[in-house]
Amino acid sequence: MPEVTAETTDIFEIMHTMRAMRRLKPDPVPDELIRKILLAGQAAANGGNTQRWRFLVLKNHPGKKVVQGYYKKLFDEVVGPRYRNSTPPPGSDQPKQLRQMAANQYLTDHYHEAPVWIVACLEGDNPGYSSGASIYPAVENMLLAARTLGLGSTLTTRHIGYAKECDEAMGIPPNYHSYAILPIGYPMGRFGPVGRGPLSEVVYLDGWGKPYPGI
Ligand SMILES: Cc1cc2nc3c(=O)[nH]c(=O)nc-3n(C[C@H](O)[C@H](O)[C@H](O)COP(=O)(O)O)c2cc1C
Repeated sequence: MPEVTAETTDIFEIMHTMRAMRRLKPDPVPDELIRKILLAGQAAANGGNTQRWRFLVLKNHPGKKVVQGYYKKLFDEVVGPRYRNSTPPPGSDQPKQLRQMAANQYLTDHYHEAPVWIVACLEGDNPGYSSGASIYPAVENMLLAARTLGLGSTLTTRHIGYAKECDEAMGIPPNYHSYAILPIGYPMGRFGPVGRGPLSEVVYLDGWGKPYPGI
């Protein structure tokens, strides 16, 4: 397999090597790079271009440790047991799944130590399909931008299991909700190919369940 470079501007290489980077160094990230990531987020599609989003950057905020407590509680009670009892997803296998679980445990223990969090928030009372559709494009843009700059991150939403408590701890007002937390930092490991199942199993042509022979 060809060498995977940390910094690249090839969008296809970026997408195919943007795996969840859960082990991050505590080294500070320059504001100039955080600005680039935030500008990429703000460039995203959003319903009616209403831009009801807010991007809360947390570096040294005490709420990070509070949220980590809930994040860990959810790992211990829900996510950890689920990992142990589930079969590997398409494109993965038992050893890969165990490595992913170890990385997940690592991020869980060190969540608050990521030098930068970007908390993607949206105004409105009813988090659901349509509100999510107006914030997750910005989240993905920010992940792509971080990857382009050689920074690691992971889309995380587990804290939503204690949404009210976590939003309060981060100082988010009641008319806004956090939809994702991106812990960002320089990665300890290397970027590498994401594991997904065969394309032919998830793509249909001209009818549900009908194969698309051309791809
Ligand atoms: C909606 C959503 C929520 C996620 N929440 C978390 C999370 O709370 N913690 C975490 O470590 N990863 C989280 N992830 C990352 C997924 O676990 C990851 O994308 C998946 O395992 C594929 O990993 P890969 O891209 O490295 O192959 C989330 C991803 C999505 C799309």
